[in-house]
Amino acid sequence: MNTMSFDPSRARLAGKRALITGAAGGIGAATAELFCAEGAKVLLVDRDVTLLADAVAAIGARWGEANVAAQVADITIPAEAANAVARACSLFSGLNVLVNNAAVRYVAPVAEADPAQWEALFAVKKTPIK
Ligand SMILES: NC(=O)c1ccc[n+]([C@@H]2O[C@H](COP(=O)([O-])OP(=O)(O)OC[C@H]3O[C@@H](n4cnc5c(N)ncnc54)[C@H](O)[C@@H]3O)[C@@H](O)[C@H]2O)c1
Repeated sequence: MNTMSFDPSRARLAGKRALITGAAGGIGAATAELFCAEGAKVLLVDRDVTLLADAVAAIGARWGEANVAAQVADITIPAEAANAVARACSLFSGLNVLVNNAAVRYVAPVAEADPAQWEALFAVKKTPIK
């Protein structure tokens, strides 16, 4: 991956401190990278340890390690969610932006859906970080 230079004229999020859940991949990781590119400091939060480390390393290599950090957390566990918020506040001396992006997907016809999977899906959606 190429190292990219920071363009101060694009820094629309300079001074902002963000926490993004579900940031190890997909839309969350893309959002985290865009936020860093726009000058924000970002804590990426996800329960997937390996993908999260990869995402943070990739963003750090492109936009600067000082802007980005990782916190492994399952946001359906209140103590882990609270730890993530506390870590962001500690790292960045506060928090301005919260992106409640984490989600799980189970694709199946409703008649064939597993109730446990539905519960797991709604658990992520109904217990966002606050
Ligand atoms: N992809 C789409 O087409 C689409 C369309 C509409 C809305 N969305 C919404 O956008 C968001 C992101 O979608 P995506 O496609 O990037 O999803 P994705 O499945 O690629 O990524 C979701 C991330 O959330 C993480 N995650 C799941 N449960 C977690 C938990 N309990 N704690 C911490 N992390 C957890 C996963 O590990 C994963 O890294 C979701 O809220 C989704 O509902 C997506």
